[in-house]
Amino acid sequence: MVSIFDPTEYKINSKANWNVVAPDYHYNWANKHEGPFKSTVQVVSLAEINPSDKVLDIACGTGAVSSEIFSRLGKTGLLVGIDMSRTALTIAKDTTHGPNVNFFEMDAENLGFDFLFDKILCQYGLMFFPDTAKVLKTLRKILRAWWKNCFCSSWSGRRGAIF
Ligand SMILES: C[S@@+](CC[C@H](N)C(=O)[O-])C[C@H]1O[C@@H](n2cnc3c(N)ncnc32)[C@H](O)[C@@H]1O
Repeated sequence: MVSIFDPTEYKINSKANWNVVAPDYHYNWANKHEGPFKSTVQVVSLAEINPSDKVLDIACGTGAVSSEIFSRLGKTGLLVGIDMSRTALTIAKDTTHGPNVNFFEMDAENLGFDFLFDKILCQYGLMFFPDTAKVLKTLRKILRAWWKNCFCSSWSGRRGAIF
């Protein structure tokens, strides 16, 4: 039997799955900063966040990276986190909040921003997007200095996180 990959169906299933697993993912993994999640501090450190930066966290999930970004921002900075899982976003909002923090339920393949970010981060997110190239092209448009300042991490098994 031949099955054709359907990106729309894939995203519906992925969203439903993350809505179920988000609490377990957060409290048993992402929030612990151990194993694969040692990379949370590493990827945010690489980004060299300045207090006044406008920062976007793509596929922010339950907010592990967002929280670390927020700890480095000043009052004039801005943190925006987007994810397609409402359950994950509820945890992110509980953990990180302030007048300069916004979390939106949004598909990374259809980002809706009409201003520029200074830094964009995406930890363990790229591999979930059916059309990664489309996402990266959009990031280039909404990044102030498009040739730098985009920081992504992925997982490579025994070698750990790659940046
Ligand atoms: C492995 S988690 C990573 C979460 C967070 N970045 C972290 O480091 O803990 C993957 C996240 O990608 C989100 N995601 C998957 N596909 C997405 C899409 N098309 N748009 C937005 N978020 C998406 C999921 O909802 C999930 O929260």
